[in-house]
Amino acid sequence: MPGSDTPVGAQRWVPHHPRSLDELKVAAAGCEGCELYANATQTVFGRGAPHARIVFVGEQPGDNEDRKGVPFVGPAGRVLREASDDAGIDPADVYITSAVKHFRFELRGKRRIHQNPGPAHITACRPWLVAEFALLKPELVVILGATAGKALLGPSFRVTQQRGKLMPWPASAQHPEDFPVGQIQALATFHPSVVLRADDRETIYRSLVDDLKIAAAAVS
Ligand code: URA
Ligand code: SF4
Repeated sequence: MPGSDTPVGAQRWVPHHPRSLDELKVAAAGCEGCELYANATQTVFGRGAPHARIVFVGEQPGDNEDRKGVPFVGPAGRVLREASDDAGIDPADVYITSAVKHFRFELRGKRRIHQNPGPAHITACRPWLVAEFALLKPELVVILGATAGKALLGPSFRVTQQRGKLMPWPASAQHPEDFPVGQIQALATFHPSVVLRADDRETIYRSLVDDLKIAAAAVS
């Protein structure tokens, strides 16, 4: 919605009774729920097993993901895959998505510099996340970093305080009537890109793996 401050949000693009994740993905390709669609290459929808027991929720696609149309295919994706392997999570149990599904960036010359999505983008894009959960009915949602945490647990979420603890699905989170609230647990951890930016990569990486081991144990 170029020029308007409050985005209309994704809801009007979400099918009423979607039968599959593919149906959602096709619909999301046409989403104009906030202004981010205008400059990005394409919607980057979630991917993975339709019967995944664990859903990872990241922030938003990066430069690589925007070009390929697939989430977590860049450097952060490599860290996530390695950490999941080290934690003993079976890739067949996993679906990966992001809180915001278009790449937000600033052009500097020819370079596209990642910008964090704002609260309005997180709110606008949330209906896609809720629709994914409603179809997937995962046992555990792993919240990767602050943006996903704010999308699902509210604006007061702090990764450093809430990471590594299994939590019941937050009652405050809005959800559709048939949403399987009681069956879902949540666990927050660092976003894998934090490992890439940290001075002490090894320590952060080990914390990420420790948290993911809790996730692995929760569904085994
Ligand atoms: N970070 C995310 O949150 N999602 C991606 O797809 C890539 C990086
Ligand atoms: Fe729609 Fe989300 Fe993209 Fe905004 S970021 S246009 S709400 S898919």
